[in-house]
Amino acid sequence: MPDIELFELSQKDIEEMYEIDRICFPPEIAFDKETFSLYIEDNNTIKIGAKLNNKIIGFILIYLFYEFGEILTIDILPEYRRMGIGKILMKEAEKIMRENSVIKVFLEVAANNKPAIEFYKKLGYRIEGIITS
Ligand SMILES: CC(C)(COP(=O)(O)OP(=O)(O)OC[C@H]1O[C@@H](n2cnc3c(N)ncnc32)[C@H](O)[C@@H]1OP(=O)(O)O)[C@@H](O)C(=O)NCCC(=O)NCCS
Repeated sequence: MPDIELFELSQKDIEEMYEIDRICFPPEIAFDKETFSLYIEDNNTIKIGAKLNNKIIGFILIYLFYEFGEILTIDILPEYRRMGIGKILMKEAEKIMRENSVIKVFLEVAANNKPAIEFYKKLGYRIEGIITS
C-alpha cells in the first residue's frame, strides 16, 4: 500500500480533479469544473483527496442532506487501483458521515461499471433498484 495522505479538497485542486475525472469517466458523465467548484464551496459536501508524493491520485465527493449521504463520485487513477485506496477514502468519508448522523448512503453507478459495483458490494452496499431509460 503506498504511503498516501488524505486531505480536504479546495479550489486549487479543481484542475487536477477535473483531469482525473476525465480519465475515470467518459466525457458525457464526467463533471465539469464549475460543478466541482460548487461542491468544493458547499459546506454540506464531504470532499477528501488522496495524495501521493504531492500529486492527487484519487478523491471522493459526498453530498449530505438531512440524515442521508449521496456518493457523487469516487475516482482513483487507473495505475493506483486495487491497492485499497478507494476503500480508505470510503472509510474516511463514512466516519465523517457517522459524525454527521447520516443513517443511509445512496449512490448511482452505471450498470455496466462492474469494477465499481464489485467495489461497493465489497464495502457492504446493496442494489436497491435498476433505472432503465
Ligand atoms: C471503483 C474504484 C473507485 C475502486 O477503487 P480502488 O482503489 O481500486 O478500490 P480498492 O483497491 O479499495 O478495492 C477494494 C475492494 O473492492 C473490490 N474491487 C475493487 N475493484 C475491483 C475490480 N476491478 N473488480 C472486482 N472487484 C473490485 C475488491 O473486493 C477490492 O478488494 P481486493 O483488491 O482486496 O480484492 C476505482 O475502480 C475507480 O476509480 N473506478 C473509476 C471511477 C468509478 O467508476 N467510480 C465509481 C462510480 S461513482
